[in-house]
Amino acid sequence: MENLKIDTSRAEMFAGANIVNSMKSELSDAMKKLHEGTGAGNDFIGWVNLPSSITEAELTDIEQAAKAMRSVADYVVVVGIGGSYLGARAVIDGLSNSFDYLVRDRKNPVMIFAGQNIGEDYTAELLEFLEDKSFGVVVISKSGTTTEPAIAFRLLKGLIEKKYSKADAQKRIIAVTDKAKGALRTLADREGYKTFVIPDNVGGRFSVLTPVGLVPIAIAGYDIRQLVGGARDMERLTGTEVPVEQNISCIYAATRNAINRKGKQVEILVNYQPKLHYFTEWWKQLFGESEGKDGKGIFPAGVDFTTDLHSMGQWIQEGVRSIFETVVSVKQPNKKCVIPTDADNLDSLNFLAGKRVDEVNKMAELGTVIAHTDGGVPNIRVEVPQLNEYYFGQMIYFFEKACGISGYLLDVNPFNQPGVEAYKKNMFALLEKPGYEEATKAIKARLK
Ligand code: PA5
Repeated sequence: MENLKIDTSRAEMFAGANIVNSMKSELSDAMKKLHEGTGAGNDFIGWVNLPSSITEAELTDIEQAAKAMRSVADYVVVVGIGGSYLGARAVIDGLSNSFDYLVRDRKNPVMIFAGQNIGEDYTAELLEFLEDKSFGVVVISKSGTTTEPAIAFRLLKGLIEKKYSKADAQKRIIAVTDKAKGALRTLADREGYKTFVIPDNVGGRFSVLTPVGLVPIAIAGYDIRQLVGGARDMERLTGTEVPVEQNISCIYAATRNAINRKGKQVEILVNYQPKLHYFTEWWKQLFGESEGKDGKGIFPAGVDFTTDLHSMGQWIQEGVRSIFETVVSVKQPNKKCVIPTDADNLDSLNFLAGKRVDEVNKMAELGTVIAHTDGGVPNIRVEVPQLNEYYFGQMIYFFEKACGISGYLLDVNPFNQPGVEAYKKNMFALLEKPGYEEATKAIKARLK
């Protein structure tokens, strides 16, 4: 079985050869902090050994709840934001047939996401849409108090209760939250919803392999055992027994930090498969929240190629030389599509006749990498054998491990997110939330 591969040769021309060797002691130190729990944020490293510690009973419980939800709902709304949203969306979008949501007689429910914004049109249109549909809700919040999903859930719960009996509502709502704390836990226990627990020692952005990701992914019809299997194998491949020179998470973390130390402050994650758009969004949160603090951090951005070569390509090729790119390249497409020959050849495309679309995509990728490195954009390439559950599991754990290591290389606490509170405090003050009276006065005085 092939595994994820990393190629840093096009970064070494910028950041120097033997990057991993030159950072060997820093990498060993970061690995020790993660595996022995001696670093900052060590109460949130439950994800490090998570794949190998998920039990058969936990997987079966999730599969059974998913089966029950699938039997009652044609549409399932997954309510959550940030780390309680992006992982599930990344995997579900990455595995779904691009047009499956348009098909009427589906074998899987349509997965819809809500609570990840507070757009009134989005919310109202969702409620209108669901009015005459058979639907269920998976509400996910570790704190159980996050405003965006709480608003969405209040509205969806109201609609479910209007449409169905209380007993039916219980079958159509699953809550994923803290084992004891928070408003969602209290509500779920009171209403008798099926619940799953988010472990205390796993933060939101590292939680996709807990019920936060596994419940929606299983409901969508994907094999969570394969997903966990891929993550387990990557846990082993990036474990302490593997020398740091062969540990691909160490190689990635070291290379991006070496490039950063040479002055590049922005990393763009590049895909050549539209299905990976939300994987990039997940990666942005993972690295952005983990590293952007104490005045430090590599800014994580994302582009979908070749689409964005026609919008962002100019900037990347010739704008401020502050960026480097990491390409997630899928080796083998799941489907086959060959470009036909055309007798008239008015579009002059016959030179491509007989080639698979992916061959053109791969040459676009190679041509772009050469152009970008010529233009001063260092490149890291991560090759994924195929888009399936198993390799999503590998990718998730690979990037999580690299993120933990990279955070320690940057000398930050990769597992907190104190800056996320600033906007919430102002929003609550402006909305005159009880308990925020002083903050309300202060913010109103500033706005006079
Ligand atoms: O990574 C994080 O901690 C955040 O993005 C949270 O996941 C996000 O704010 C959602 O929080 P909660 O699950 O408590 O509703």
